[in-house]
Amino acid sequence: MNNFSSENGNLTLEGRDLCSMARKFGTPLIVTSEMRIRQNAKRLRSAVSSNFDNFEIKYAMKANPNPRILSILRSEGLGIDASSDMEVRLALDTGYKPEQILFTPNYASKKELLWASGKGVPINFDSINQLRQVDGKVPHTISFRIKIEYGRGEFKGTTTSGHDAKFGITETEAISAYRVASEMGANEFGIHVMAGSNVLDPGHTGMVANAIVETVKRISESDGIEFKFIDMGGGLGVPYQPEIPELDLESAFSKARDAFVKYFGRRMPTFCIEPGRYLVADSSVLLGSVTDVKVQDKAYLGSDISMNTLLRPALYGAKHHMVLANRLNDEVKGRYEVVGQVCENTDRIGSDVALPEPRINDILAVFNAGAYVSSMASNYNGRPIPAEILITDNGEEIIRKPSTFADYIRNYS
Ligand SMILES: Cc1ncc(COP(=O)(O)O)c(C=O)c1O
Repeated sequence: MNNFSSENGNLTLEGRDLCSMARKFGTPLIVTSEMRIRQNAKRLRSAVSSNFDNFEIKYAMKANPNPRILSILRSEGLGIDASSDMEVRLALDTGYKPEQILFTPNYASKKELLWASGKGVPINFDSINQLRQVDGKVPHTISFRIKIEYGRGEFKGTTTSGHDAKFGITETEAISAYRVASEMGANEFGIHVMAGSNVLDPGHTGMVANAIVETVKRISESDGIEFKFIDMGGGLGVPYQPEIPELDLESAFSKARDAFVKYFGRRMPTFCIEPGRYLVADSSVLLGSVTDVKVQDKAYLGSDISMNTLLRPALYGAKHHMVLANRLNDEVKGRYEVVGQVCENTDRIGSDVALPEPRINDILAVFNAGAYVSSMASNYNGRPIPAEILITDNGEEIIRKPSTFADYIRNYS
């Protein structure tokens, strides 16, 4: 796995011993590499810029809204995809300008929409009803999220377009939606699609580009709308297991470019993407302590990483690669149900995981913990949200403190 290594059988990240960090800061703990986030951003920028002259990359902050991470990505020249008024507010507080943000809520309240519009943030509307809520206060720049027929994600739960998707408007609805937006006073238009998350097939990017370009063509012909930007959403995949090959970014964006050139020629709208996972997933590892081992019908390895800390396996059936961080030189001895401390039988972090024979106090390391891990964490069962440490050129920075009993009861009255 990138930027990770082994020293004397211990897992390291940027040369730092993760077992020592787990013991120093306590577990569960998320350790993140600033260098890896910057490498991901630069690799992505290079692949997009070699295919498109006008482009914008927006970070989908739902993946991990830690303000320190937002600042790193701002310094890499990225904008923001925000999904709620709180996310917009955090992005603004971190120094992003309103025009660098695209606000894509779904089923938002009128209050939330009016607030964002009042801040001058472009809104990507999920329906005509949502647009009508901001009557008299329509943002200068608007777009609609289109529900194209094609949808694809790693799991059913991460497929966000096509049949059964709760998001966006159909092309037929969009034709009247842009007309209404124009009548309501919007002056600049974009279009948006988000087909699904964690797709490693470059052909998928081409499929989405073709579908949205076809839709643009029909809306422009019908409404005379000129689109300033086309936002292809997020979804760029990362391998969650070491044997899975990485996404070929160059191939993905050249396929998107082909679709754009076919329709627009050289006068293309701005090409936008809003990746979350791709930028941050592999920058972090989640560390836990083994708390028990039971050999019964199956061998159960219990640790302080529970579904409240890592929800993705219980939510989607996601599989994260994991190792015993202090036993990298030990032979794999068995297959384990890796479970947590929450009172749910779905509290499984991994199933049938090949590991050396675990001992209490071993350190469990779960990879790809930078996206949709801390942002999905809760205090369910009174369990803590993990602290986050950032490894920088200058050392170790605590970027999220461990949650305490006081945090747990803060809002109870
Ligand atoms: C509208 C929108 N944009 C971007 C993303 C980011 O997706 P990913 O993390 O797969 O890149 C999501 C994720 O759900 C989304 O809903």
